[in-house]
Amino acid sequence: MTTATRHVAPADQAPATRTFPQDFLWGTATAAYQIEGAAALDGRTPSIWDTYARTPGKVRNGDTGDIATDHYHRWREDVAIMADLGVGAYRFSISWPRVQPTGRGPAVQKGLDFYRRLTDALLDKGIQPVATLYHWDLPQELEDAGGWPERATTDRFTEYAALAADALGDRVRTWTTLNEPWCSAFLGYGSGVHAPGRTEPVAALRAAHHLNLAHGKAVQALRAALPGGAQVSVTLNIHHVRPLTGQAPDVDAARRIDALANRVFTGPMFEGAYPADLLEDTARLTDWSFVRDGDTVDIKQRLDFLGVNYYTPTLVSAAADGTSHGSDGHGRSDHSPWTGADNVAFHLPPGSTTAMGWAVDPTGMHDLLLRLGADLPGTPLVITENGAAFDDYVDPSGEVRDPDRIAYLHGHLTAVHRAIEAGVDVRGYFLWSLLDNFEWGYGYSKRFGTVYVDYPTGRRIPKASSRWYAQLARTGTLTP
Ligand code: NOJ
Repeated sequence: MTTATRHVAPADQAPATRTFPQDFLWGTATAAYQIEGAAALDGRTPSIWDTYARTPGKVRNGDTGDIATDHYHRWREDVAIMADLGVGAYRFSISWPRVQPTGRGPAVQKGLDFYRRLTDALLDKGIQPVATLYHWDLPQELEDAGGWPERATTDRFTEYAALAADALGDRVRTWTTLNEPWCSAFLGYGSGVHAPGRTEPVAALRAAHHLNLAHGKAVQALRAALPGGAQVSVTLNIHHVRPLTGQAPDVDAARRIDALANRVFTGPMFEGAYPADLLEDTARLTDWSFVRDGDTVDIKQRLDFLGVNYYTPTLVSAAADGTSHGSDGHGRSDHSPWTGADNVAFHLPPGSTTAMGWAVDPTGMHDLLLRLGADLPGTPLVITENGAAFDDYVDPSGEVRDPDRIAYLHGHLTAVHRAIEAGVDVRGYFLWSLLDNFEWGYGYSKRFGTVYVDYPTGRRIPKASSRWYAQLARTGTLTP
């Protein structure tokens, strides 16, 4: 287990300087559709996000990922920026429709070549590539055949995983199967606020199962194609769910949301079974007969680490009107995305908020890590995303000053360090995001980058937070 130096500051002294373990991995993260652009180049075909973004009223301002930050052409400059940041790792995703356009059959070499060049340049700068296979860009043809609610999609994903590992496994040693499958299943097929925009409660639960199965089979395919110590993981946006009060109905609402957001994935992945309370809570929707014999054996695979994305906690209480409603602190639940979670109200946690309207609460990060450390002994954790959107702008002197982002990062990294001090095995931290980018349904209106992107010109302007983060990545020391 990784250990940190323990600093205990007497109560009357200024907060401590915190030193992270020497081998702690400092990284930054992006995803293909959010940054690449070049949507129709070199054989790439539409993904569900290309289609969704083109559907009027779905994405703010009608924004699409057609050009995005133009990373497909500017990757050299972006790698140089990362080298300046001094990060040891870069988490990116491979665009499935760029390397296997219809989701079937042979790979497109031009698409793979892009990732070969990118990863070569990273390795050249001493930056470890961390590749995610699926960050939400399902080839449209596979959605036309039914998408994640259909079991066949798991076979297509397994083939794609093998193809990607064969092509890039000599360079990429750290792999993640899925990013935030909760969003793919419940926002994509339940509330419809993400692509493909379907609002079919049972389809959301079927999608969740098939994403689990796709993960398990892809882990096996990756391990078969990557002998000799490749690291294999999944990234979950584990919700830190808190009840509004300690009263039994509110505590039960939190349990139900925990089942639908978290244990629907961690149950089969780590314990080899769907939780009994989840099956009971959703019984009026489905008997889960789409889970076949042997599926849970396929899903439960040893993982080298669990990727955790954390932004804000989720605060819930019991409601009496038969629906789920209110803000879930992710700005997403006005559309009742919580398939199966009737009679739950979502509340905005107290305190300041980011430009997303999400509460800033680093105690959620700390408590979540402690819970995961206790629940998943022996599974190292990596924070694969944490960060914040603020209304950044270039000031008259040409600078982008983002003190709120620095404060957010400082607070959350302090929480990570405290969790390490308490004995939780946290191995690394990836700041979301390297660049301002396409924030899904919010388009380009939300800026999460530590580097500002001037969209009309594509110009990159490192924000003050990037200098702050570079100092931290170089020294491993968080000063008060
Ligand atoms: C989670 C997602 O993985 C990422 O794509 C998104 O931009 C951030 N959270 C911020 O919402």
